[in-house]
Amino acid sequence: MESKIISGSKCLLELDKWLTGKKTMVVCGKSAAFFSDYMQQLKKHEVVFFRDFEPNPKYESTIKGRDIFLSYKCDSILAIGGGSSIDVAKCIRLFSVLDNDYLRDNYVDPMIPFLVIPTTAGTGSEATRFAVVYKDGEKLSVNCLYSIPEVVLLDGSLLKTLPDYQRKATCLDALSHAIESMWSVNSTEESRTYSLKALELFFKYKNEYLSNTETGNAKMLEASFYAGKAINISETTAGHAMCYKITTLKGIAHGHAAALVNQYLFPYMIEHIEDCIDVRGKDYLKNILRKIYQITGNLSDLIDEMKLPSVLATDDEIDIMTNSVNEGRLKNNPVKLGHEQIMYLYRCIFG
Ligand SMILES: [Fe+2]
Repeated sequence: MESKIISGSKCLLELDKWLTGKKTMVVCGKSAAFFSDYMQQLKKHEVVFFRDFEPNPKYESTIKGRDIFLSYKCDSILAIGGGSSIDVAKCIRLFSVLDNDYLRDNYVDPMIPFLVIPTTAGTGSEATRFAVVYKDGEKLSVNCLYSIPEVVLLDGSLLKTLPDYQRKATCLDALSHAIESMWSVNSTEESRTYSLKALELFFKYKNEYLSNTETGNAKMLEASFYAGKAINISETTAGHAMCYKITTLKGIAHGHAAALVNQYLFPYMIEHIEDCIDVRGKDYLKNILRKIYQITGNLSDLIDEMKLPSVLATDDEIDIMTNSVNEGRLKNNPVKLGHEQIMYLYRCIFG
């Protein structure tokens, strides 16, 4: 399903139109209070707010949201926020038409109008079929094509209040999506077109975005959206499979962790093309990696330029990280990585 995309100053008007005649559950994080224009617009309509969830949302919170959605007899759902708000809204929407067994392989189309307003340029969740939730500390991915929103509002002005670290880390998440999708064994011509579009926007507007200009914010939001469309087709690769435990163990942002992995994974793959597992072959992969490098250059330079806080890890922590990587999830990576190679990469990341 293709979403209707509205950008810039037309967004508020579209929101008003969309909310009219509906009873909408609004899923948003605490930062939503900053978006006063949007909050005022929402309060003119019949809405039920749901904010009772964590930054890495628990499965139980999505069930709580589902129960509230049903008890208030809402007929539509709106997410305003970063990846967590969007993912929680996706789950509430899918689960609201089910009586039990909420975690499953196949979902029915809930046919519930769904509008998404991302307030960070990073997760690309507004463009994907995935929602990440945590159950008993374990990361679960709810994967359903019906999760793609009907309408997406891309309003760069919502990025104005992003704190510096979050600003940097979220755009690195978008960059990691674009890069990993580009080299994923599942990439298609269509997904690579989205990746290239995202990479082009990222590098053209990176400095403006980091300086918090209107154009920079709007264009990075677009880059993140295209990177989301790319991973919606190809999924992510080892960069993401290896970054989750860094986030939980070291408390750094997801995009920061993904970029830390990719800065070592990328040169490792260039040096180990002979371990290519992409059926399209080594020459194909060499070409793809060359194409990415022509755009991104050395990822380490980019990360240094961002002046992110440094992260250290003990040998024990490196062991924990290595053992936590689900090797099944490395199957999308074009270069074969086993336990030994993963430990080597973690050692590179943490010096
Ligand atoms: Fe990500």
